[in-house]
Amino acid sequence: MKLNELRIGNLTSRLPIVQGGMGVGISMAGLASAVANEGGIGVISAAIPGIHEPDFATNSARANIRALRNEIRKARKMTDGVLGVNVMVALTDFSAMVRTSIEEGIDIIFSGAGLPLDLPGYLVEKAKTKLVPIVSSARAAKIICQKWLSRFNYLPDAMVVEGPKAGGHIGFKAEQIDDPDFTLDHLVTEVIDALKPYESGHQKIPVIAAGGVYGGENIHYFLKLGAAGVQMGTRFVATHECDADDAFKQAYVDAKEEDMVVIKSPVGLPGRVIRNDFTEAVNQGKKKPFKCPFHCIKTCDSSKSPYCIAMALGNARKGKLKHGFAFAGKNAYRVEKVVSVKELMTTLMEEFGRAAAESDVQKEEVYRRCNIDLGPGTRVPQKCEDSAWLF
Ligand SMILES: Cc1cc2nc3c(=O)[nH]c(=O)nc-3n(C[C@H](O)[C@H](O)[C@H](O)COP(=O)(O)O)c2cc1C
Repeated sequence: MKLNELRIGNLTSRLPIVQGGMGVGISMAGLASAVANEGGIGVISAAIPGIHEPDFATNSARANIRALRNEIRKARKMTDGVLGVNVMVALTDFSAMVRTSIEEGIDIIFSGAGLPLDLPGYLVEKAKTKLVPIVSSARAAKIICQKWLSRFNYLPDAMVVEGPKAGGHIGFKAEQIDDPDFTLDHLVTEVIDALKPYESGHQKIPVIAAGGVYGGENIHYFLKLGAAGVQMGTRFVATHECDADDAFKQAYVDAKEEDMVVIKSPVGLPGRVIRNDFTEAVNQGKKKPFKCPFHCIKTCDSSKSPYCIAMALGNARKGKLKHGFAFAGKNAYRVEKVVSVKELMTTLMEEFGRAAAESDVQKEEVYRRCNIDLGPGTRVPQKCEDSAWLF
């Protein structure tokens, strides 16, 4: 099996690897352009990009638009590769972030944390931006396809399926997170099936698997399952090019398996984080509701929230982990060191190659056991077809 390119509409990335958008300020122009230069799809986060702008406290809306515009332009100067922006539906300035991304001619908008039901309505004439929802269930995938078709005669250009091992906010109830029915492979298979009825007469909708994809062997697994690509966040945090402070990356290197926890975020969703003194203080009720200067997430009620998630994540991004915490995928404790994006991509490709070769050896073994001549045109008897999962 080859590591194929990923096609989304008329866009092609040499590698089927999307770097997941990571707010607040974790994936900006630096990381996104580095990933795009290595053949993946680099994604800038539109989650409060202006948080460090001087006028953020007085005019957060204007600061966010300006910061996102600057990041897109900066990234474009640094790469000819495929670039995306991640815009969460839950953001209060969702519309402004989508409009700015399209005005700047971004290649792809990735949008989750809610159902982006009106996203195609933002496409102005001649816009070349592709639209890729992020979902956590086949039901959500179906609803988006139905609504987009009936309201805009438009189908998603691809679909990211994010499972419960992902870093950041996750779209699952607490009891679903470790339920075997909600593993990423289940979800990917269900979404691929759910999309089939919408593909007749149209192009195939590529499905991209996200959440817990760590090594090249995982990429091999999900591509064999029928995914067209993978989206990875955690691995890209631990790169030199990631836009977070070194202390944020070091928190990944230092984390132990037992530090990977799911918290109840003030925005009403579970969030996967590395536990620290800040999260412990929240658990012990030592943090108190605060005065919110800007209402960045639609579902956040600051009068009941013990802390501001935007400030906590923004502080962590700057390396001030005493005043915040790091979002991280379930596998972040496996990170041993910070590497360059180039080194990471090379490692992933080597691991993929090894997994593919092993799978070919298994295939030959099954064929041999079934006494099949491996010459061209050989028909595989039923008992061997039953072993198809091995390949
Ligand atoms: C630090 C961090 C911040 C994230 N922020 C966002 C975000 O703002 N919006 C979003 O849709 N996903 C966000 N994610 C999820 C990633 O885009 C990606 O889908 C996920 O990390 C994949 O799982 P993995 O970390 O196991 O590779 C974040 C993930 C991390 C680790």
